Amino acid sequence: MSYETSRSEAAYKLAQQVIAGGVNSGARGPDAGWLPSPPVVARGEGAELWDVDGNRYVDHLLALGPMIHGHAHPEMTAAVTAAIADGTMYALPFELEAEAAQAVIDAVPSVELVRFSNSGTEAVLHATRIARAASGRSLVVRFEGQYHGWADQLEWSHHPDLTQAGPSMRPTALPGSLGIPQAFGAGLVVMPWNDVEAIEALMAERGGEIAAILTEPIMGNTGVIPPNPGYLETLRRLTTQHGSLLIFDEVITGFRVGLGGAQGIYGVTPDLTTMAKALGGGFPVSVVGGRRDLLELVADGSVLHAGTYNASTLAVAAVKASLGILSRPGTYERLYAISARLQEGIGRLLTDAGVAVQVQGVGPMFQVWFSETPVTNYREAAAHLNSPRYATLVRALLERGVMVHPSNIELWFVSTAHTDEHVDRVLNAFEDAVKATASELRAS
Ligand SMILES: Cc1ncc(COP(=O)(O)O)c(C=O)c1O
Repeated sequence: MSYETSRSEAAYKLAQQVIAGGVNSGARGPDAGWLPSPPVVARGEGAELWDVDGNRYVDHLLALGPMIHGHAHPEMTAAVTAAIADGTMYALPFELEAEAAQAVIDAVPSVELVRFSNSGTEAVLHATRIARAASGRSLVVRFEGQYHGWADQLEWSHHPDLTQAGPSMRPTALPGSLGIPQAFGAGLVVMPWNDVEAIEALMAERGGEIAAILTEPIMGNTGVIPPNPGYLETLRRLTTQHGSLLIFDEVITGFRVGLGGAQGIYGVTPDLTTMAKALGGGFPVSVVGGRRDLLELVADGSVLHAGTYNASTLAVAAVKASLGILSRPGTYERLYAISARLQEGIGRLLTDAGVAVQVQGVGPMFQVWFSETPVTNYREAAAHLNSPRYATLVRALLERGVMVHPSNIELWFVSTAHTDEHVDRVLNAFEDAVKATASELRAS
């Protein structure tokens, strides 16, 4: 087998001389698990990527989620190219904005009005600002193991060190970076996810101070952890009871697990929703949507939302095109079927090799835990996070033409460009990779 990395290594070294760490996001470099250095990409097409050494991969990294149509999808490219031929931004309204907004509203029934921004981080900041304004309260509940962007107000207790994280029922809020002022922690209450008793106790005690419960409806930033049956309903009931808002952060799940997002598949309606990633199919755009009365606070200017780059022509053209493709009959059935074949195949190959494994996923997003039992919250996951065994397996997969992130906090994604033929290739590579690494995989 020839897996060449010398050009990638040289290109990455050059990048390190001019870009801090050689990457423009923390998830892309050696710190995030790409050891000794990440492959440097030459191009992508459909479900495949090529690196600068000429290695070809079936891509299940999919840029951490946005590329739901694969790379350089001809309809996405044509829609965006047509839009930018007339200019990219005007700081004035244009008709395509409302068409994109209507597409979001048609897809997600809880969304009555929207505002577009550029990134998931901005959308969540905006949603929490609306919630604090509407409720007149300052506290936002967020959950250990979830991620809501890198802003000072929200990057707390994302993957905390359990030696400092306090009791599981009432964790200590811990900043996720140096430079985050301690004072921002006072605006948050950090809670364990999937724990009905803990959240009922908190709301009984402090419900009147809580502006909002902010949650990913499917935890997608510690592998994939689905909600326990009834858990989202509990969050809905408690927020309604205490006059708090329920915010679903569907930056990953929105338009990925279904056209109506996770709220569509679980039948739980939040007050506000944030979405990004699949929304723009690979172009930078995010959205806050929800109840009309809440978004009216933005409409009348009492809640400020601004941004030079918000709703550029390329962003809204991408939204309209992405949702147009996703709305076609059979799209999600195919995404689910391809992902199910992969998940079943991966589970079987590892089990046959004597490795205890849980393949946890919802439709076209999943992750593999080397665990005897299902993982239901961050503290259970912590024992398996950044598993060296998983990194070894991923290294063997890369060498065999399968692109996934080397850390199991990230996910395997499936796009509309993946076919059964790609699944065959991935499962063959997986079988071979498991054979090559079996002794390491079995070591606990
Ligand atoms: C659930 C969730 N919210 C917010 C964000 C932040 O989005 P962005 O990276 O676009 O700022 C992410 C990013 O992965 C996410 O997964």
